[in-house]
Amino acid sequence: MATASPPDVPAADAPAPVGRGGRISAFVGWLDDRIGFTAIMPLMRKKEVPVHRHSFWYYIGGMALFLFVLQIATGILLLFYYRPSAEGAFESIQFLMAEVEFGWLIRSIHSWGANLMIFMAFVHMISVMLLKAYRAPREITWMTGVGLLFVSMGLGFTGYLLPWNELAFFATRVGTEIPGVLPVVGPFIRDLLRGGEDISGATLTRFYALHVSVLPALAFMLVALHVLLVQRHGMSVPPGIEAEGGPRRSIKFFPHFLLRDLVGWLAALAILAAAAAFFPAHLGVKADPFASAPAGIQPEWYFMFMFQTLRYLPPEILGIEGELVGIAAFGVAGLVLLVVPFLDRPEAPDAKPSKLWSYLTYAALAYILLLTYLGYTFDPTT
Ligand code: HEM
Repeated sequence: MATASPPDVPAADAPAPVGRGGRISAFVGWLDDRIGFTAIMPLMRKKEVPVHRHSFWYYIGGMALFLFVLQIATGILLLFYYRPSAEGAFESIQFLMAEVEFGWLIRSIHSWGANLMIFMAFVHMISVMLLKAYRAPREITWMTGVGLLFVSMGLGFTGYLLPWNELAFFATRVGTEIPGVLPVVGPFIRDLLRGGEDISGATLTRFYALHVSVLPALAFMLVALHVLLVQRHGMSVPPGIEAEGGPRRSIKFFPHFLLRDLVGWLAALAILAAAAAFFPAHLGVKADPFASAPAGIQPEWYFMFMFQTLRYLPPEILGIEGELVGIAAFGVAGLVLLVVPFLDRPEAPDAKPSKLWSYLTYAALAYILLLTYLGYTFDPTT
């Protein structure tokens, strides 16, 4: 006679009891069957980061990436209170700083974070330049990087006007005047940026659209392509280390390098929060288009070297307007920067890397530092 199994002994093929952990992994499995995200795990596990004396610089790109994400997060929070009109912008920021809980903190982190992100992107670019990480096959990684630097500067320029305070108003008037000296297209570009002949509510609307949609969308696409290409080609090894026989060891990107990245990101967040608490972002007085420009109108620090160069130029150079010569020179410099990987090519694959581009980088850096210093110590009355 067949006997039934006792009720507390599960049959061999019955499903195991599902605890909370089991339910989560069952859900993850269910999602993965539909999305397939675990396919990136082997890729993550495969990625290795070479360890050598210049490895520190590999962290800077990741730091810029973290700051970019932080800017998006804090920017979205600011959008809940900001009003993009000449009548309401200043007051909405005043309200955010004084009445909204932690509004001052979010705005100050956004403002400090913008400066730190541009600084990090710049340091990252200089390190990539000196370590020659732009060489084949990383030309497009470099070009998307240059694009990102320009877009970041554009985000800084357009964001500066949004609080609609006096300093921003007049600095934007000066800043948008500069492309106006270009022949033929100059006045068109100036009026296009301003939404009219002078800075007005229309300029604010345009800068707002650029700052919260056009430029972030561009930055997002460039960041995605940039990071994808870094993933595709892996980290480059500088020629000096190659010449010594290559790096002696490497570490796994996941989890070892990423965990170190995380330490840096937490440190950056702590520094930003401290900077925001001790030096909160200023607001100043509301812009008055009919007031005369206050003394000491200055651009952001990353535009200072260009601004100061234009100040020093004589009214005419070889019969051409001085300012126009300056703008053309910066335009050419920007283009050269974009195509550096195609200009610095060793003739033979085993040729010694040329030092020319490293010297040019040091010279450009010295020029930028000097002109920035002169810009901040310049006395317009002398
Ligand atoms: C917001 C701006 C930027 C972000 C978020 C970013 C992000 C990153 C990240 C995460 C990496 C991998 C880690 C590393 O090598 O540091 C990287 C590598 C790289 N970046 Fe950027 N980057 C930015 C700007 C730039 C700029 C301005 C340039 C140059 C003009 C540039 C050129 C490169 C190159 C060539 C690599 C490959 C380096 C190698 O393989 O060793 N990036 N970037």
